[in-house]
Amino acid sequence: QGFLLCHFNLIFVSLLILEPSARLPAPQGVMVYSYNFRSSLRWSPVEVDGGPLLYTVHFKTAAFNQWDEMNCTRISGTECRFPQLLNERSWTVTLRVRAERGPAVSDWVQSEPFVAERNTTIGPPRVSSAAEAAFPHSLLLSITPPFAPRPGELLQYRVSYWENATRATRKELKTSSSLFKITDLKESTLYCLEVRVELQTLYCNISGLPSAPQCYSTALSEATTTGYAILIFLLILVILIFAIVGLFLIQRYHTTIKYWSQAPFRIPSHFEEYLQDPSLTFPEVLENHVQDDPCDFLSVVCSGEGSQEGPTSAEDKAPSPGSSRESE
Ligand SMILES: *[C@@H]1O[C@H](CO)[C@@H](O)[C@H](O)[C@H]1NC(C)=O
Ligand SMILES: *[C@@H]1O[C@H](CO)[C@@H](O)[C@H](O)[C@H]1NC(C)=O
Ligand SMILES: *[C@@H]1O[C@H](CO)[C@@H](O)[C@H](O)[C@H]1NC(C)=O
Ligand SMILES: *[C@@H]1O[C@H](CO)[C@@H](O)[C@H](O)[C@H]1NC(C)=O
Repeated sequence: QGFLLCHFNLIFVSLLILEPSARLPAPQGVMVYSYNFRSSLRWSPVEVDGGPLLYTVHFKTAAFNQWDEMNCTRISGTECRFPQLLNERSWTVTLRVRAERGPAVSDWVQSEPFVAERNTTIGPPRVSSAAEAAFPHSLLLSITPPFAPRPGELLQYRVSYWENATRATRKELKTSSSLFKITDLKESTLYCLEVRVELQTLYCNISGLPSAPQCYSTALSEATTTGYAILIFLLILVILIFAIVGLFLIQRYHTTIKYWSQAPFRIPSHFEEYLQDPSLTFPEVLENHVQDDPCDFLSVVCSGEGSQEGPTSAEDKAPSPGSSRESE
């Protein structure tokens, strides 16, 4: 019995090595990819020694349950596009693929049943929008669907929109028209929107991917524009009136303004002391304050020459502070 088992093992091993029709490993990750009803079967390549492999794909429909060739027999790539024949969106299609090299083949690997109108991924539609000056409370939307609907299919657009400033409050509306208006918006406000396609067929409802958010500003109403224009006009008018009146006043009261714009004259404190108490001799007053105010020193030298006339010339000098300031 031991001999028999050993013999059997030997035969099995020699079969694996020498048998020309030995099984190849089967393709992995067999999936149907479908985007906007363009579908294909994809799989990962089979890695074996001894050169590249070829693949063959078959299909069958639920109604006509028989494997048939697609246009993918002994292809080197790892993707097989659906032929025109399989473009019927409501058919249930199953596919299978195997690896081949010469007479050697792998097992068939079957895909999940695929129904285009249920399994396809619907991409986002193309959206453009325009604000119209005549309709400041609405936005006009134009939508291009990602594929053309067939008879019996209903394409609808779900529009989600929100004011950019307040992201929280989204509003939604549904329409089957590719050109329509969103109404009841605030004028001159930035709105962002997102649109997705919903496909309704007899048996299925599917929802597509949303478009990337796009933002549009509503127009400014004519009334508001006119209002602003009037406001600006009035503002300019007021400024002009003020300017004219101001100029007139300046001219009219030129001297008064000059008088008021000068700081009131104050008699330096040491002169004041002197005037209040004339018994003090002038130089004493001078000595007390010479450090504090050099300008006063200058004016005192002038009046010092008239000996006893000192106080009077100090008084004379007093009402013309302008000249003493200019010397500063
Ligand atoms: C099969 O593929 C070939 C080459 O890719 C192409 O020329 C031909 O039209 C296809 N046939 C069908 C029935 O799709
Ligand atoms: C298609 O969708 C159905 C239900 O959602 C799922 O069971 C099936 O696996 C999908 N088919 C493919 C090929 O993805
Ligand atoms: C929308 O608002 C956000 C802040 O809430 C700001 O950062 C962003 O720039 C705005 N978008 C546009 C297009 O102005
Ligand atoms: C599809 O959706 C519409 C409304 O959203 C609903 O009335 C209908 O019953 C749905 N059909 C299927 C097959 O789910």
